[in-house]
Amino acid sequence: MRPIVIKNRPIMSEERDRRFKDFETLRSEVRVSERLLKAAHGKKYYIRTYGCQANVRDEETMAGLLAMAGFSKAEDENQADLVIVNTCAVRENAEDKVFGEIGLLKSLKEKRPDMIVAVAGCMIQQAHVVEAIEKKYKSIDLVFGTHNIHELLDMLDEVLATHTRLIDVRSRSEVVPENLPSVRTERFKAFVNIMYGCDKFCTYCIVPYTRGKERSRQSADILKECADLVQAGYQEITLLGQNVNAYGKDLKDGSSFASLLENVAKLGIPRLRFMTSHPWDFSDAMIDVIGQYPNIMPAIHLPVQSGNDLILRNMGRRYTSASYKDLVDKMKAKIPGLALTTDIIVGFPGETEEQFMDTVEMVRYVGYDGCFTFIYSPRVGTPAAKMEDNVTDEEKHRRFSLLLKTVEAEAEKRADAMVGKTVSVLVDGTSKKNDSVLSGYAENGKLIHFQGSEDLVGKIVKVHILESHLYSMMGEIVHD
Ligand code: 5AD
Ligand code: SF4
Repeated sequence: MRPIVIKNRPIMSEERDRRFKDFETLRSEVRVSERLLKAAHGKKYYIRTYGCQANVRDEETMAGLLAMAGFSKAEDENQADLVIVNTCAVRENAEDKVFGEIGLLKSLKEKRPDMIVAVAGCMIQQAHVVEAIEKKYKSIDLVFGTHNIHELLDMLDEVLATHTRLIDVRSRSEVVPENLPSVRTERFKAFVNIMYGCDKFCTYCIVPYTRGKERSRQSADILKECADLVQAGYQEITLLGQNVNAYGKDLKDGSSFASLLENVAKLGIPRLRFMTSHPWDFSDAMIDVIGQYPNIMPAIHLPVQSGNDLILRNMGRRYTSASYKDLVDKMKAKIPGLALTTDIIVGFPGETEEQFMDTVEMVRYVGYDGCFTFIYSPRVGTPAAKMEDNVTDEEKHRRFSLLLKTVEAEAEKRADAMVGKTVSVLVDGTSKKNDSVLSGYAENGKLIHFQGSEDLVGKIVKVHILESHLYSMMGEIVHD
């Protein structure tokens, strides 16, 4: 059996700790050892990513690093010499999928023992997961977390050279790495990280532990990355952070999300989006900037989680249903054509039928264009996991279906109202179901299908909406 080297393990009390020094920007150049260059020659990698956009962006960074070492991308796990599973910890079903994938990889590795399997991402930032991998999942060669992705090539080099299993998961990050290569997944749309981590500590959420303290990138670095994307012909940028409203607070140089957003908009990217915003510190200045710049898309993801004040308090959300509604009213007044989407958790500990109905009422009040609905899933070590999870599974599912019906009815109304209008669509590609049909997203985030030639891919075109369905719309292209 191969020896195991455990350099660092995640410790939850350290992950929770926010009392440590300021962050430094790390600008060192990535170097690839001769040994790794030789080992990677002619080899292929595959990264399987679960979870949110932060993970998608991490995959792009990992892919960039691997490309520097000379790896090329495989179509799937079966063709790969190196597989990285990039995990999500936000709910139990995401974790179950990862363990399923790890099981599959074990059987692949039995057939091809030289294959290297690495597991990374948010799940790995939990001590109990690392322990399970260490003891039970012995086919895994490398385990690293969210804080040392920039060291991927050094870790790989070590695994290849020493033939050991390596576990290196830090509890926190003290740097904001810059100058990392990346291979972007899409040709016209790009994600740009503006900050890492989250300090909100909503009581149900594991993210502040797995992604660490809020740390903002320097605005000059963000603006340079965005300017380069504009130069390269990208049509859409999405600025990413767990809570983008908090951007710049840690920099202590007067930076704010409102001014960053305005400065990126001024670079002239045709479409600018951002996610995610917490309703608590969504400033008036932010609303004004979104309303003023036509290239900032009028689509805001504003997770409400619940429509009931006591549940919101127990979730640690820092707003009431009335203050959320006030914010929504203000946004609607100042942002023409605004589309709001949200996240909702049903069956939070102690949620009564009446409290749940406040959430249903909230959905009707706001009239969301779309909504991600989740059944509450206790996360080890979070404050909510210590509360009694006393809503039965059956009840959670009943509430979930009722909520979904309400959400769909509201989304349908919003979609129906688009019929007969002409909207701008950024063409993504041909439709999955039909080659002669193009598809793309309208400014408000609705998926639109229409007939057109493939050379329109990557362009923004006008489409007249003919029909609306729940999750997509049909239209016809309007020629000037
Ligand atoms: N259980 C269910 N849903 C959760 N989310 C976060 N943590 C949990 C949990 N423990 C949901 C929230 C969040 C979205 C990304 O995932 O709605 O906004
Ligand atoms: Fe989790 Fe709340 Fe932070 Fe969002 S704002 S990542 S829900 S702790």
